Amino acid sequence: MFNLVRQKRIRHKTAKVLSPFILLLAIALWCVGLGWGMAFALDPIPSRYENGRDLYLENCSGCHIAIPPEVMPTETWKQLLENPEDHYGRSLTNLIRITQLLIWDYLSAYSRPLTTNEPVPLLIEQSRYFKALHPRVQFSEPVTADTCVKCHPGVAQFDYRTLTPEWQDAP
Ligand code: HEC
Ligand code: HEC
Repeated sequence: MFNLVRQKRIRHKTAKVLSPFILLLAIALWCVGLGWGMAFALDPIPSRYENGRDLYLENCSGCHIAIPPEVMPTETWKQLLENPEDHYGRSLTNLIRITQLLIWDYLSAYSRPLTTNEPVPLLIEQSRYFKALHPRVQFSEPVTADTCVKCHPGVAQFDYRTLTPEWQDAP
């Protein structure tokens, strides 16, 4: 909103040819922002991390669901972001440096580092933090990014708080 008001003021003062274009650009960017907000049920976070989260969702939810940062230790995210060309047999070559840095800023703020010299988990099911987030759940089947949706119906919207009724209503 603030930007639009400012654009209008600039429009009065300066080049009449360029300004409608700038205004359109501002509206387009604003719509992109709205689009992300509506596609995902995003919790409010400090604005400093918003770009990083948007880029994370954009770049890391194409092949599998977007994995919540807190289920993996910070070291895992670091290792994955530093080796995009060797990602579980795939290559994330379109990940440019600035995107990497902003995603790192977000993931490192919302995950915890390992406290001991334990090996860095590369799979969710190996992660101690994943287990700690599930005090009530005894996993009988292997856990992968594809199985979260069985109990978390909102994964496509990056919502891990909503649970299926059997879990929601359980004591
Ligand atoms: C080109 C497709 C592709 C993209 C894009 C992608 N991944 Fe992956 N990712 C995979 C594949 C393939 C696996 C192996 C597991 C699987 O088959 O789901 C995987 C697995 C993972 C796992 C382990 C999941 C588990 O089941 O234990 C994590 C964590 C992960 N990716 C993070 C990321 C991050 C962070 C990004 C963005 C920087 C990203 N991925 C983007 C293809 C992708
Ligand atoms: C068998 C059901 C089940 C599966 C499968 C499952 N979860 Fe959960 N999850 C739960 C329950 C139940 C809770 C609430 C904590 C508890 O009661 O243990 C929870 C809590 C969470 C939380 C914390 C949510 C909050 O409110 O902060 C996260 C994050 C999470 N799960 C991520 C995942 C991810 C990622 C996967 C897939 C790799 C996954 N879960 C698979 C049942 C499941």
